Amino acid sequence: MKAFVTRVLPEEAMKIVRAGAEIVDVWPHELPPGREELLTKVADVEGLLCLLTDKIDADILSAAPRLKVVSQMAVGYDNIDVPACKSRGIAVGNTPGVLTETTADLAFALLLATARKIVEAEKFLRQGDWQTWSPMLLTGPDIHHATLGIVGMGSIGFEMARRAHGFEMEILYASTRQNSDAENHFGAKLVDLDTLLSSSDFVSLHTPLNATTRNLIGRRELALMKRTAILINSSRGPVIDQSALIKALEKGKLAGAGLDVFEQEPLPLSDPLLTLPNVVLLPHIGSASIATRTRMAVLAAENLVAGIQGKPLPNPIG
Ligand code: DGY
Repeated sequence: MKAFVTRVLPEEAMKIVRAGAEIVDVWPHELPPGREELLTKVADVEGLLCLLTDKIDADILSAAPRLKVVSQMAVGYDNIDVPACKSRGIAVGNTPGVLTETTADLAFALLLATARKIVEAEKFLRQGDWQTWSPMLLTGPDIHHATLGIVGMGSIGFEMARRAHGFEMEILYASTRQNSDAENHFGAKLVDLDTLLSSSDFVSLHTPLNATTRNLIGRRELALMKRTAILINSSRGPVIDQSALIKALEKGKLAGAGLDVFEQEPLPLSDPLLTLPNVVLLPHIGSASIATRTRMAVLAAENLVAGIQGKPLPNPIG
């Protein structure tokens, strides 16, 4: 049994892969394999362990006649053509659960940093602009007791609500399903998306990317938001129409945005977002704690090994 692993993983995970597969081919570089390289590498493998940067579509699957499992080291799997895998009998796994709290921590950190101008203030100090304490210098909105709108009350949205509750925020949520736990524990109120957008001081996105959520927040939705509101996205970039967001920020229709994800990643240095002062931009680090990334790698390794051995995956998709 042969497996291809598209990036070097923590040793804890590699041990599992090496114990479960006879031959393990690991892509040794920092950057992902290119298209041609991926097509070649999958030709003779039973298992593929990939990251969200690897596009696994029907062509890749056709180039991998022996493939039994695609194991993704992430909870989101919009880079994988899951129906194409299913139709070929290829199992697909992801890594839910283990990254929930870490990702909510980061989303809340982005909210705090954007509202309280942490990055701007630090830059101000470092570049020698700090001359005196001044009444309204670098002031932003309060977070405590403000209204937070959570779009997508899944597990990460729920943990975001827990954090917001600690700050005594009022919580609204829009979701495909009612979440009684969020309502009972944090006083969250289920509303429709338009109401959430027009009533919230902060809006945080926690939806997966799929056909329904692509460009969920576009020009119309941004226009519904308060001019003082701040938008936080730690889910997937294409959930927001990025050019519409840039226009809204440029025209002052929105106070700011904290973004960990983008339509194109890495964010090109020529992107207009980089010229805006009222945004905090991070390089997709929502789950980036040492413990969480290690747990994700271990889970992905366990899915991979189960799949190549023809066993049910610990965390299957679908
Ligand atoms: C995921 O898991 O989908 C994140 O985007 C990376 O942790």
